[in-house]
Amino acid sequence: VILMIVLAIISYLLGGIPTGYLIARKTMGIDIREHGSGNPGAANVYRTVGAKAGWATFIIDAFKGFVCVRLALFFFPNNYILAIACGTIAIAGHMWTPYLKFRGGKGVATAAGVFAAMMPIPIIVAFVVFAAAVWYSGHISVGSIFAAAVLPIAAWTVGGQPKEVNIMATIIALVVIYKHIPNMKRLLAKKELNFEDGSKKRK
Ligand code: G3P
Repeated sequence: VILMIVLAIISYLLGGIPTGYLIARKTMGIDIREHGSGNPGAANVYRTVGAKAGWATFIIDAFKGFVCVRLALFFFPNNYILAIACGTIAIAGHMWTPYLKFRGGKGVATAAGVFAAMMPIPIIVAFVVFAAAVWYSGHISVGSIFAAAVLPIAAWTVGGQPKEVNIMATIIALVVIYKHIPNMKRLLAKKELNFEDGSKKRK
């Protein structure tokens, strides 16, 4: 039990690492929360700092979630409930990071890493939907919202993992969609940012 608690704490502290904030600070000396959408996630780093920095943020944020799940499965193989608990804690750590006064990102990249480690087929389905929606709309947020809506459906139908994992996937997807309410408001007002605009300061 002590090891489980340690894994949960590691997941929170690892998930909370504000990759986007740190990359923007290191590369441009800016506070990403004062630029573009104000979100310290990959999409906003992409539009504010640049493509490379955006992809780096996505990969590292996803890796945080992936590692937390894999670490739990390494110590407790087949304990999918513990694994999804650690993954959920990592996503929560990203959304409510202890390092930035509990104001973190929207959890898309970290959730992608968590589900890539637990349900590869549903995450591929969600990724295809994400890519299609971004391509069609020009907005990363639209891709994220559609992917979050599709992931639980894919989890329950083609995932094949225990139902507790599917229940958590559904809850996480709902929280991710909830985190996109400001994006939905901007979309309805036709004011949503593309991934190449915002307050880009790139020279
Ligand atoms: O992952 C967050 C993305 O869906 C939207 O980010 O910066 O456009 O609000 P942003």
